[in-house]
Amino acid sequence: MPSAGRLLLSSEQIQKRVRELAAQIDADYADGPIYLISVLKGAFMFVADLSRALKKRSVRIEFMAISSYGNQKTSSGQVKVTHDLDVNIEGHNVLIVEDIIDSGVTLSYLRRILEQRRPKSLEIVTLLDKPERRVAPVAVKYVGFRIPDQFVVGYGLDYAEDYRNLSDICVLSSEPELRLEGVSL
Ligand code: PRP
Repeated sequence: MPSAGRLLLSSEQIQKRVRELAAQIDADYADGPIYLISVLKGAFMFVADLSRALKKRSVRIEFMAISSYGNQKTSSGQVKVTHDLDVNIEGHNVLIVEDIIDSGVTLSYLRRILEQRRPKSLEIVTLLDKPERRVAPVAVKYVGFRIPDQFVVGYGLDYAEDYRNLSDICVLSSEPELRLEGVSL
């Protein structure tokens, strides 16, 4: 297993930004339920924290699974729904919750298929955005952090299924001497 590498965003930085995003979302939506559609697996930690930070409203949490990468560090360009919604979102306020936007292939595809289900509104919140990597343009309303083009792990993000459980976000390194430097487990 490669080492996790250099600390990029600490747990404290992430939690502070999550609270700011939640306050912005609370302010932007009128009363009424909001459906958080979380994209597994990477967004599981972000949706857990974001949903708890939303104060004002009825929050409903739904999961979809979309596979686009396999166990590689680079995108295969293949996107498929491996778990669909259990609910009808027609007429509802829907917020897609993602951990990271890289090429944009996953989210542009997801946005397109969810729009066809005629929600009242459809927006995207992502914790991380790598704008340099964008191939498919996608409109994202809420961004936690814009980060450079480096492979990151932790806080839900994996490398070959490892490191999702880290509280911090680190730049993956294959340098053994950097192993778990600055990481709080
Ligand atoms: C990651 C991430 C996004 C997608 C972003 O998921 O969670 O869904 O890649 O990449 P893109 O903008 O290039 O499409 P991944 O397929 O790695 O699955 P996971 O969330 O289960 O780790």
